[in-house]
Amino acid sequence: MSQSGTDLLLDLDAADRGKLRLRLEGALREAIRSGRLPGGTHLPPTRALAQDLGISRGTVLQAYGQLVAEGWLSGKRGSGTVVAAPSNTGGSPVEQPEPLLVPWRFDLRPGFLDASSFPRLEWVRALRRALGEAPDDAFGYGNSQGQLALRTELASYLRRARGLEVAPRDLLVTAGFTQSLGLLARSLFAAGARRIAIEEPSWRFHRSILRAAGHELVPVDVDDHGAQVDQLETARDIGAVLLTPNRQHPTGVTLSADRRSRLLRWARGTGAIIIENDYDGEFRYDGHPIGSLQGLDPAVVAYAGTASKTLAPGVRLGWLTLPDSLRKPLIDAKRLTDWQTGGLDQLALAELLRTNAYDRHIRKMRLRYRRRRDTMVTTLAAANPRLRVSGASAGLNVLLPLPGGEVEADALAAAHAAGIGLGGVAADKYYETGRGAGLIIGFAAAPEHTFPSAVDALADVLASLDP
Ligand SMILES: Cc1ncc(COP(=O)(O)O)c(C=O)c1O
Repeated sequence: MSQSGTDLLLDLDAADRGKLRLRLEGALREAIRSGRLPGGTHLPPTRALAQDLGISRGTVLQAYGQLVAEGWLSGKRGSGTVVAAPSNTGGSPVEQPEPLLVPWRFDLRPGFLDASSFPRLEWVRALRRALGEAPDDAFGYGNSQGQLALRTELASYLRRARGLEVAPRDLLVTAGFTQSLGLLARSLFAAGARRIAIEEPSWRFHRSILRAAGHELVPVDVDDHGAQVDQLETARDIGAVLLTPNRQHPTGVTLSADRRSRLLRWARGTGAIIIENDYDGEFRYDGHPIGSLQGLDPAVVAYAGTASKTLAPGVRLGWLTLPDSLRKPLIDAKRLTDWQTGGLDQLALAELLRTNAYDRHIRKMRLRYRRRRDTMVTTLAAANPRLRVSGASAGLNVLLPLPGGEVEADALAAAHAAGIGLGGVAADKYYETGRGAGLIIGFAAAPEHTFPSAVDALADVLASLDP
């Protein structure tokens, strides 16, 4: 069946007459690319389309001809012009579907959340309200530091829930921890720092971000009390240290009170900055909540938080405190990177915080994760009493230490064969030096209905393991 030209096309009437053919081609390409004109659709005959659009038939003929040459359309004498099917365009510009991002039947990967847990309704409500009340600059180039409404809500949330010593003017809104770390790395480099200390083990992605900014990395070992601060005390020329003090990633240990005091003393004495990555500090199940390092000395700590674990990684919202020495460089670096984080998203988060919907969502998810953590720990212990998971009192994953890379590789292969996705300390290169192995098992990613069977499947795989 033929389609009417006006259904297919942009407003060509207003166009510069000389560019009509190009605009017609562009509109058709776009309609095919977006799926509005699926493969097999018959286009209107050239004469009819020309008449509909008030342009010459020659222009339509030329446009169809060009798209046939490019593989978007096929034209056979007697059967008209048809949108080419993606499969038989042979190298045509028709886009292929994206590869499946979650290939696992049972998703126990660390660092991922169950996407269906995103508070859609609350977000829509907050966004609608924010849109209704947004100041004009939310739609333009606003303050690179972030919307004042969000910084105000964040400051009061962070003081209350994470023990920060912070005012709205001390906060920079970013696109998540990844961006915060990149801004810090570049600002520190510009300020003359060349060597940054980092926990060993640590996520290699963060090592890459620091190295990409030109830094040399100095490893600091981690034991049961967290990063070994004495190694910092004896190292030289350290401009900053990147730490996960609330819950070390991936071991799950907490930096002890004694080491916190020594760390702050070291930073004050050397002028180094402590980068406090509080990526999942909202989720603590046992024991006392752990306050932030920043609250103990805002001048030497750049505290970085993110909405990636509380809401979803795709939201791309984070926040960073501004120690005085880096205040201007960090705001300038943010402006040079992307001017500002999306204004409307910032206002929606401000609204979620203002109405306590953010807190309610965290409380709900904390309960759910605590139940999942309990199920995980008891099921694995029942399946194999020799298994000792660690780091289970907080966060969204546990660690199952293993004696070496080969045992880990075998366990990962068995898990993969059973359709289970999870992380490996050696496989994912958490240690630069190569030592250390274990499974990193996330309990936030699986949809609620598959989580129990995912844990059972893992328990089966690990039942005979001798760690
Ligand atoms: C250790 C660690 N830090 C931070 C993040 C969050 O990064 P972002 O806020 O850029 O999503 C993650 C995410 O998985 C993480 O594992």
